[in-house]
Amino acid sequence: MRIGVPRETEEFERRVALVPDSVVKLIKAGHEVVVERGAGAMAYFPDEQYEKAGARLASGFAATVDGAALVAKVQRPSEAEVAALPEGTAVACLLQPSSAQALVTALNARRVTVLAMELVPRITRAQSMDVLSSQATVAGYKAVLIAAAALPRFLPSLTTAAGSIQPAKAFVIGAGVAGLQAIATARRLGAQVSAFDVRAAAREQVQSLGAKFVATDLVSAGAEDKGGYAKAQSDDEQTRTLAAIARHIPDQDLVITTAQIPGRAAPRLVTAEMVRSMKPGSVIVDLAAETGGNCELTVLGETVMEGDVSIIGARNLPATQPLHASQMYSRNMLTLLQHLDKEGALHVDLDDEITGAMAVAHAGVVRR
Ligand code: NAI
Repeated sequence: MRIGVPRETEEFERRVALVPDSVVKLIKAGHEVVVERGAGAMAYFPDEQYEKAGARLASGFAATVDGAALVAKVQRPSEAEVAALPEGTAVACLLQPSSAQALVTALNARRVTVLAMELVPRITRAQSMDVLSSQATVAGYKAVLIAAAALPRFLPSLTTAAGSIQPAKAFVIGAGVAGLQAIATARRLGAQVSAFDVRAAAREQVQSLGAKFVATDLVSAGAEDKGGYAKAQSDDEQTRTLAAIARHIPDQDLVITTAQIPGRAAPRLVTAEMVRSMKPGSVIVDLAAETGGNCELTVLGETVMEGDVSIIGARNLPATQPLHASQMYSRNMLTLLQHLDKEGALHVDLDDEITGAMAVAHAGVVRR
């Protein structure tokens, strides 16, 4: 099958959906790969590497997707791109399904199969296709670096001729993939790390990374659904959670918030009053900014100052680490393509647990 890899056009996006290493594997499997000129440039994968990998280079979106069985993208297609997609093709991208109704309708009108990369089911068999995990790993790592760069102090403890330095205190709220990576990164940089999550499984994972788990009594066995995701807390649980965070936060130097509930606005866990209780110079990096923020004062894409505390509303952090983020996204995409390949052709089997979960539209039918 022919696979098209366009250049991403969304503002701030620097990733590419397939890197040259994956192209080599696809060509070896007998597929044809067409890459738009410059598609990998922002992620440091120049055109020459794609050519060497066996891809054909094309100029412009339309020429790249012409005749493609599947178009591999990071961001969802723009209006202009939808109009240029060949009828009957498939597109795999980060769709942001909850706000993509009009887009899906437009794609479906062209009988384009829409595969949402976010909807890969969280089952062991699909783990290597899971872009939410791979990209959350990047975000969790980068959040700590951003906080470290913004802090007026060191993270590690230091013993120097100019005196001893105490380690910084880092607090990670939400210990999913991004949170666990934030914990590991803050630990590597020498901070004293604590964390909180509502899911019981997260407690052991936090502790195994050498961090202290805060408010153990607030963890409940019923806090997660059968997919492993957190459920929204009851009002009473929410009140007790806020009280626990309010007690813990005044002593912290950096706070990384990552708490999310699928399909809902991010839970509000850090109030303006809590921010005002923090030490001057402390930093909050809110990884839930795109779904409304875990901190009441977060503004997406901006750094807000409340007194001397910075609240950083991080936007699309994986795109700021485009080389490895693309490499990981590409590995996920490659595994998906291998999954969809049946004797060299794209096979969308809606009865398959993985394909069926990801296919938002197929054969002229919008499925969700
Ligand atoms: P996420 O990005 O949806 O949310 C981040 C974290 O916020 C979660 O750990 C969640 O429990 C926590 N959270 C939600 N509400 C909270 C609150 N009020 N206070 C504190 N924390 C709160 O989570 P992510 O990283 O997508 O992981 C969700 C689940 O999926 C985990 O159980 C993870 O182990 C599982 N998973 C399974 C995979 C697989 O089997 N293929 C792959 C990746 C993750």
